[in-house]
Amino acid sequence: MKGVILAGGLGKRLYPLTKITNKHLLPVYDKPMIFYPLQTLINAGIDDILIVTGGNHAGDFLRLLGNGKDFGLKHINYTYQEGEGGIAEALSLAEHFSDYEKIVVILGDNIIEGNIIQAVKDFRKQKEGAKILLKEVPDPERFGVPEIVDGKIVNIEEKPKNPKSNFAVIGIYMYDGKVFDIIRTLTPSARGELEITDVSNAYIREGNMTYDILEGWWSDAG
Ligand code: DAU
Repeated sequence: MKGVILAGGLGKRLYPLTKITNKHLLPVYDKPMIFYPLQTLINAGIDDILIVTGGNHAGDFLRLLGNGKDFGLKHINYTYQEGEGGIAEALSLAEHFSDYEKIVVILGDNIIEGNIIQAVKDFRKQKEGAKILLKEVPDPERFGVPEIVDGKIVNIEEKPKNPKSNFAVIGIYMYDGKVFDIIRTLTPSARGELEITDVSNAYIREGNMTYDILEGWWSDAG
């Protein structure tokens, strides 16, 4: 399976830090933020990886990561998102790279303690559709929040004022090749972005969404 890291957008909420570098290159403990999602994909056995970046400092990703030799990779693919039209818009840039095979998508600011090997293995076996990962959190209103009925996700709301569960949808998404057709049907949300939550809701409506609860610590470092 191929992997996509979404590290586009302009990181305006982190100004002035992001005036001089890309958000995903800022340090988190002793490493640039982007190292963590990259290692998460590699630990799950994914070595064909596309990084979607953007903004004024995109060239720094190449200088930092090159072809991924330090991570044991032979090659890294890069592409560039103009502006910040949303996570789903950034993902749409992976269409050509994906060859319409299943993909694992990770947000460039998501850091996990454990690994996603089992979820990836299960998704390889899943005939079609999508799979997401949830984590119980004290502040679900900051995230995409699933409504779960009889053990099934029936809807996801993006940053709801009155969350329907205590779970956050974390920034790791597994989609089949239909995802690009779904993105083409989306319209921008109130915040002017193509939302990844709308992509996942399309799979939920088709009855083609599975989920796991992530074990271990998770952080949206953004
Ligand atoms: O971290 C998990 C959460 O991430 C989910 O629970 C939410 O459902 C999902 O919408 C997302 O919420 P955020 O508001 O935290 O997303 P943010 O705008 O911070 O973007 C997260 C990453 O996605 C960012 O580090 C880079 C990538 N991105 C984002 C935008 C808006 C892009 O590549 N391009 C973009 O245009």
